[in-house]
Formats: sequence, structure tokens, C-alpha cells
Amino acid sequence: MINIAIFVSGSGSNCENLIKYFAGSQRVNCALVVSNKADAYALVRAQNHGVPTAVTPKPQLNDADVMLPLLRQYHIDFIVLAGFLPLVPDFLIDAYPRRIINIHPALLPKYGGKGMWGHHVHEAVKAAGETETGMTVHYVTPVCDSGEIIAQFRCPLSPDDTVDDIAEKEHQLEMAHFPHVVDQCIATLSKREVLNATF
Ligand code: GRF
Repeated sequence: MINIAIFVSGSGSNCENLIKYFAGSQRVNCALVVSNKADAYALVRAQNHGVPTAVTPKPQLNDADVMLPLLRQYHIDFIVLAGFLPLVPDFLIDAYPRRIINIHPALLPKYGGKGMWGHHVHEAVKAAGETETGMTVHYVTPVCDSGEIIAQFRCPLSPDDTVDDIAEKEHQLEMAHFPHVVDQCIATLSKREVLNATF
């Protein structure tokens, strides 16, 4: 069984979608949900599904002596960022090489980087008059939103679409595709490689 940790900061619709998708899986176990915010609704969703949770505000998130034992305690092999806002500290990226992935609500490399999260992304897409938007799943590197792209899904936009319409269209792509991409990504890892994670 591959144990995944889902990192969140907010509502957690993707987190819950992943938990539901992998419920009963013989291969992937949603072992832990980690939030940097104590009031993230994602924590409630996780608890409703019986998934253990941990709250690690930035000082703890950036402390290897807190995070590595926590992830070890739950035998975490793979980390999924699902609406997680802080930068991932280098020691985690080193401990999980190509084993941390993120979902971004736009077609990277457009509309990525600092400040490009949530509604800011969709507002920028609208302001630019884009004729399409989409979602990107990518590996996490020390540079925000810059890791190798794993998968992208796109949808057309009409000039009449409001920012909320754009957000809704993009969110539907996330609900439809993200769990499957995570599943495929994990399927390409051999258990042996996972066990060789360097921490
Ligand atoms: C999603 O749009 C995701 O792409 C982005 O943050 C949002 C999280 O939404 N990284 P939720 O917390 O999963 O509802």
C-alpha cells in the first residue's frame, strides 16, 4: 500500500475528492491530511471520512524535526498538494524526490507563481481575454509552480464567462481528472523506489 499525505490550506474539495476516489483502493491509502491552517474546512472533510489530520502552521511546516517525524509516523510515501498555499520547504522536496505533486488552476506556465492562487488566477485569465483555461498537475520543486508538468486538461471559455464561470469550469476539470492523475502517477512508482525515499 502506498500511503499518501494530502496537504491543504482551505476548503478541501479536491482533498475530499481524493479521499473518496481512493476509499477501498488496494494500492493507495489516504493516510494523513496536513493543513497549515487550523480552521481549514478540509480538516472537517477529512475527519468526516475518518482520515487522520495534523495542523502545522508555517514555523512547524518549515521545521524538519517536526515534519519528517510526522510523515514517518504515518509511513507517508507520496505527498499531494491540493490547495496548499505555503512554499514547500527544501528538506521535504529532498526527502520526497519526484514524490510531491501539486494541482494548479490554470494552464501553466501561464498564470503561475507568487500571488497566482484561487480567484486571482481566474481574474487574470478573464482580464487577458483567454479563450481557454484549464488545470495543471506538476511536480513540486523549490520554485513555485515551476516543476515538470505531469498532465494538463483544458476547457473553452466564451467572452460572456464571468470570473465565477471560469472558476466553475476549471473546478469541474479538477473534480473529473485530478484523482486519476494522482493514481497514474503513483502507479508509475515502484514500491522499491518509494521505500528508498531518502529520509
Ligand atoms: C484548487 O483550485 C486548486 O487547483 C488550487 O487551489 C484550489 C483548492 O480548492 N491549488 P479546494 O481547497 O480543493 O476546494
